[in-house]
Amino acid sequence: MHKVVISGTGLYTPPFSISNDELVESFNTYVRHYNDQHAEAIAKGELHALSESSSGFIEKASGIKSRFVVDKQGILDPQRMVPRIPERSNDDWGILCEMAVHAARQALQRAGRSAADIDGVIVACSNLQRAYPAVAIEVQAALGIQGFGFDMNVACSSATFGLQAAANAVQLGQARAILMVNPEICTGHLNFRDRDSHFIFGDAATAVIVERADQATSSYQFDIVSSKLLTQFSNNIRNNFGFLNRAAEEGIGQRDKLFVQEGRKVFKDVCPMVAELIGEHLAQNDIPVGDVKRFWLHQANLNMNLLITRKLLGRDAEAHEAPVILDTYANTSSAGSVIAFHKHQDDLPAGSIGVLSSFGAGYSIGSVILRKR
Ligand SMILES: CC(C)(COP(=O)(O)OP(=O)(O)OC[C@H]1O[C@@H](n2cnc3c(N)ncnc32)[C@H](O)[C@@H]1OP(=O)(O)O)[C@@H](O)C(=O)NCCC(=O)NCCS
Repeated sequence: MHKVVISGTGLYTPPFSISNDELVESFNTYVRHYNDQHAEAIAKGELHALSESSSGFIEKASGIKSRFVVDKQGILDPQRMVPRIPERSNDDWGILCEMAVHAARQALQRAGRSAADIDGVIVACSNLQRAYPAVAIEVQAALGIQGFGFDMNVACSSATFGLQAAANAVQLGQARAILMVNPEICTGHLNFRDRDSHFIFGDAATAVIVERADQATSSYQFDIVSSKLLTQFSNNIRNNFGFLNRAAEEGIGQRDKLFVQEGRKVFKDVCPMVAELIGEHLAQNDIPVGDVKRFWLHQANLNMNLLITRKLLGRDAEAHEAPVILDTYANTSSAGSVIAFHKHQDDLPAGSIGVLSSFGAGYSIGSVILRKR
């Protein structure tokens, strides 16, 4: 079995940012319009009036201040509240492929690698733009990579599950190096008319190069010491969109065909599961929790991350121990923990241990122990 490293990471950040105030203004305009339009039915008790959203609530409940998006205008238009992403000809690269390629080029550059050094592409993300052909195969073609490509979806945990799949392929000698990418247009599946969740997501793409340790030459190497995955079925985060929808007309356009969650239950269920999994994983590798210099956690909710690190460390984590990017990116699903890793790794001294961890729908949890070279 070959030893395996992460030798480069990349990030694509979309060009537009939406602040909480901008998002709330659009939402509240929609709410006022809805309540005016349905005033009679609301007065008769036939309909519930909608409540306004608030920036103060969003920041306090989640830690999110703004989010990057691929389209701002369509989301903020109170008549639309959906990003406008025009269809493209099949002769052009798709938008997920394009984002993935941006992130991948940076990861390749940091790894000191070219397309010719890569033997496989894994696109691991929550929201694939089509059923087939696999976006990974399109990314492969766009970058000129030989070998194989496939898509996989484990919701917000896709990147850690993708890392394990990539590491396995390299360890077993099936590939010299794998490009694992996480293009996420979360705003495509977010219901911007739902007060409970309209603020949660943003868009981004991340990329990671995984290769044989004995062949890696980059200055950004981390040993993949070990990975550990866990899934446990739950309906608390769900999206029922799919190709069977057309066979059940009664469900078309219903709210469950976009992201829905029981946020409070998710918070309560997932935090202890994540702390336990990471704790167990470290113990199995004889690494005291106190030796971990950095936790690159999934970026969904600041309070969740504070609780998880408190459970692990028995004290509040210092800001540098569990870096936060969700304040400006919001939840970018699988990309979140990789954005934190990408932006907050260069300052670590050689030998430092870190844990990259994701968690989300499924439930699904991934923990990857890394050691800086
Ligand atoms: C979604 C989340 C931020 C909501 O925070 P919360 O503290 O649980 O908030 P609740 O939904 O319980 O709502 C608390 C109150 O705020 C209100 N509220 C909800 N959304 C609001 C908004 N946008 N603006 C103002 N008030 C709001 C609720 O109506 C409720 O009021 P009440 O106490 O009078 O009933 C939080 O539950 C969360 O992040 N959970 C984890 C989700 C997660 O990680 N999911 C993974 C996705 S992949």
